[in-house]
Amino acid sequence: TRDRSDTLRTPIVAVLGHVDHGKTSLLDKIRGSAVSEGEAGAITQHIGATAVPLDTISGIAGSLVDPDDFDLPGLLFIDTPGHHSFSTLRSRGGALADIAVLVVDVNDGFQPQTEEAIDILKRTGTPFIVAANKIDTTPGWNPQEGEPIQVTYEAQSDRARSRLDENLYEIIGELSDSGFSADLYWRVQDFQANIGVVPVSALTGEGVPDLLTVLMGLSQRYMKDEMAIDVEGPGAGTVLEVKEEKGFGTTLDVVMYDGTIREGDEIVVGGMQDPIVTEVRALLQPKPLAEIRTEKQFERVDAVAAAAGVKIAAPDLEDAMAGAPVRVIRNRTRETVIADVESEL
Ligand code: GTP
Ligand code: MG
Repeated sequence: TRDRSDTLRTPIVAVLGHVDHGKTSLLDKIRGSAVSEGEAGAITQHIGATAVPLDTISGIAGSLVDPDDFDLPGLLFIDTPGHHSFSTLRSRGGALADIAVLVVDVNDGFQPQTEEAIDILKRTGTPFIVAANKIDTTPGWNPQEGEPIQVTYEAQSDRARSRLDENLYEIIGELSDSGFSADLYWRVQDFQANIGVVPVSALTGEGVPDLLTVLMGLSQRYMKDEMAIDVEGPGAGTVLEVKEEKGFGTTLDVVMYDGTIREGDEIVVGGMQDPIVTEVRALLQPKPLAEIRTEKQFERVDAVAAAAGVKIAAPDLEDAMAGAPVRVIRNRTRETVIADVESEL
């Protein structure tokens, strides 16, 4: 049998939610990193991207996930800022997503940027689940490091459990006010008709196995047909950041969401004046589990297939813009691709 992970695209999972509700911390728990701690005031100011391979997911999910059930290569997580001033970045992150995780602090419930994120998800028609985060802050909580929610529930006093339940039902009510029928995820049969709410703690890792399991299930069940695109086709992506890189000059941090990009490819990038036509000099890929936003060490590769975060080095990128499209020209005319890029600006 052929290795299907070679032909299926990695799904893009956007992590959205109000400031400080724990988006970056949740990704830190999954990556085994401490990106949030390095942020000024723990405020995220850029979109990030992290590739999480299937074996890491099944390692965390333990008995909840049988890797043989999945032929997706993993998930590409997009971290977004929750601070109110970054609404453009939230829309951009939302627009890239195949599916999304809406992170809600279980004590704070819905807040202005939670509502804003919901509007983005409605507008883009992105399926999502809710991570009800910080369950460890429930008074009287008895933490069970890294355990699935069922295990951790059984270890709680009746009092702690019913306090958490109250908060969870409040979130379910707020989702319903926003027009979504929702329930605790283990009661949901059809994740397209109902929003699953997963109680988690980014601090203790409780519920994180469940979250990853639900995400994999969602991607596998509902996204697979869309994933099976021609990953060999000409690459398409979005610029996250324009950065100086020692030895490479101006480079682009890009999320490739479609096709393949190769060293030597001619590409078109949206620029401040006109679209930039240039040739890929080097492709630099962050290691699995590395956050492209903060990573210092990149591996030079010949080609990158969607979905992936990649740093592109090429001449003439000084006028490139964050948020602009990147397109590989390959077997189309330069004019067609330039027109494509212009229509997206
Ligand atoms: P922005 O990116 O600025 O929107 O914030 P964020 O949603 O990424 O929040 P971040 O992960 O930076 O966490 C904010 C604060 O909440 C940090 O001090 C975290 O340590 C804390 N925090 C996050 N998740 C949890 C959790 O599950 N439990 C507890 N107790 N604290 C948490
Ligand atoms: Mg953050």
